[in-house]
This record gives sequence, structure tokens and C-alpha cells, in this order.
Amino acid sequence: MMNYSKILGTGSYLPEKILTNFDLEKTLDTTSEWIIERTGILKRHIAADHETALSMAENAARAAMKAANIAPSEIGMIIIATTTPEKMFPSTACLLQQRLEIAGCPAFDLNSTACAGFVYGLSIADKYIRDGSVDNVLVIGSEVMSRVLDWTDRSTCILFGDGAGAVLLGKSNEPGILSTHLHADGTHKDVLYLDTSVGKPIDVESALYLKMSGNHLFKLAVNILDELFDETLAANGLVKSDVDWLVPHQANIRIIQAMAKKLDLPLDRVAITLDEQGNTSSASIPLALDKAIRDGQIKRGQILLLEGFGGGLAWGSALIKY
Ligand code: COA
Repeated sequence: MMNYSKILGTGSYLPEKILTNFDLEKTLDTTSEWIIERTGILKRHIAADHETALSMAENAARAAMKAANIAPSEIGMIIIATTTPEKMFPSTACLLQQRLEIAGCPAFDLNSTACAGFVYGLSIADKYIRDGSVDNVLVIGSEVMSRVLDWTDRSTCILFGDGAGAVLLGKSNEPGILSTHLHADGTHKDVLYLDTSVGKPIDVESALYLKMSGNHLFKLAVNILDELFDETLAANGLVKSDVDWLVPHQANIRIIQAMAKKLDLPLDRVAITLDEQGNTSSASIPLALDKAIRDGQIKRGQILLLEGFGGGLAWGSALIKY
């Protein structure tokens, strides 16, 4: 009998504090109208001082385990995608493993896959479940982007938010994850980066904050995603009308609209949290997925196309029968 991996449960965590565009108008040379028109974002959640990638990941993970009816003792692997980890090491995943009291199972972070981190994690988890070595994997995206933003740079700080999303991926006899497709192209390393480094002496001024060439990245994203969708559908012998839901990385509403158009999907078949959460990097896909599932929009048996892209560049997709 074939092994497949399936989404057994999802969970989310969002910090209580909300920062609106109107709040940003008070400190930056910007307007809410500009932000909405160019990005689709109205507000974003911001972590309190005591909240971290670990604390948010734990909340999202516990919600996913509850939804899946899986106990911590049944977890065989923990993968946390985060560009804003708790520490350089141990990994945020090891720290979560300790909190869940499940010593022994492999646990690691995907730290530098940025906004593509969640699909990278999902792909790895799927392979381990399919080869029969693990039954249940927690795949989590958790980010405190607010701590790596230059709050005086209007071209970046308006875009991002904090939060965590988790998926409990488990063994199944029926197809769940149909395929995953991962890519990277380091020639675009300067389009989006965070220079914090131990590889060279740190220039404190420039190393602490995320840097982005937004317009350049926008154009790259639309092209790579276009090709990625063709590759993903072709690998499964499917056509775009077979896709029930697009669950995209939440970076910019205009990119999301372009991708929905590519699939001939109306926007009400696209999981969108961007307006209320901004870009939460590796957390954005599981957050959007969890919301659409809990709202009763995404239903069992439907075909979902997940896509993520970010610094590296790194990008990837997953086609899933939910
Ligand atoms: N408020 C007002 N004006 C702003 C602004 C803000 N918050 N941010 C930038 N501007 C200005 C710029 O300074 C520029 O002014 P200029 O023409 O006088 O130089 C003008 O708006 C246009 O800037 P540009 O960067 O060309 O705008 P854009 O339409 O590309 O929108 C982004 C900017 C960042 C919203 C958009 O490029 C984007 O979302 N890119 C993709 C980013 C992405 O995907 N990131 C996630 C990766 S994981």
C-alpha cells in the first residue's frame, strides 16, 4: 500500500496588538490610501515584547494538534520555517520540542528560506511521511517581522506583520499532498535580504533591517509564479479548472490578483488574509490556509494550490487534495 501525507489539522496564532495604516500615517510620510492601493494591506498584528517566534509557534502548533486530534507524543518531526528565529541556535523547533516534552524526534528550523520556508518545510515533511519513516509532522511558519524592520523606511515597514501558522501533516492511504515543487536562484540575492551575519564583522546600522527592491521583486515574482503554476499542474496532469483554491503567500494583492487571473479563479476562491495581517513571511500560507478552513470555505476533497516566494530568491508550490 502506498503512503501519502495528508493535512490532518491546522492552527494559527496572531498577536493581540494591531497596527493600522492610520497608525502608520502618524509616523511615516505615507497614506492609508497609498498602502491599500499599492499593497491591499489595511492592518497588521505586532508581537508584544514577551512574544517570540517560539511562543507563537507553540500556540499555532497546539491549535493544529487539537484540530487533528493528535497528541504531542504522536509527533515524529518538527519543522519550523522562520526568518526571525528565537536564537541562532538551538533551533526554535528544538525549543518547541522541549516545551511539548517529546525529546527524541528530529526538530529543525528552515531559517533562510524566508517567505518560501513553509512550502519548503511541507515538501520535506511529505517526503519523510511517504518513505514511511515518520507518521506525523508539525510544519510551522512563525515570524516576528516587526523586529527586523526599519520603522523609518516607508517602502518596507508598511508591508509586514507578525504571527504563526501550523499544519499537522500525517500519514494517509489516500493522496493528500499530490506534489511539491521547490526552486531557488541566488543570482537574485540582492533583491531581498537581511544582512545580520556572523560570516563577517557586523555593520550594526545596515545589518539589523530587512532590505528590499520592491518593484524589481514584484516583477520577478509574477514571472516565476506563472511558470511555477504551469509546472505544478503539468506534473499532475491537471488543468487550471481543476484547482478549487489558491492559497498564496500574502505579499501584495496585485501579485495575488495576477495569479488568480492566471488560474481563471475568482478572488473568492483565493485564501486572503493580507488585508488584515500584512505579509507574515513564512507564516502567511499556513495562516491563510487555517483561516479558510476554519471559516468553512476550504472543504475536504478540494484541490488547493499553495505557493510561496521570497528572499534568495527561493520559491515553491504544493498541490494538495485537502
Ligand atoms: N507611502 C507612500 N509612498 C511610498 C511608500 C509609502 N509607504 N513606499 C514607497 N513609496 C513611493 C516610492 O518612494 C516611490 O516614489 P518616487 O516615485 O518618488 O521614487 C513611489 O512610491 C513608487 O515606488 P515603487 O517602489 O515603484 O512602488 P510599487 O508600486 O512597486 O509598490 C511595493 C511598492 C513594495 C508595494 C511593491 O513593489 C511590492 O509589493 N513589491 C513586492 C514586494 C514583495 O513581494 N515582497 C515580499 C517578498 S516575500
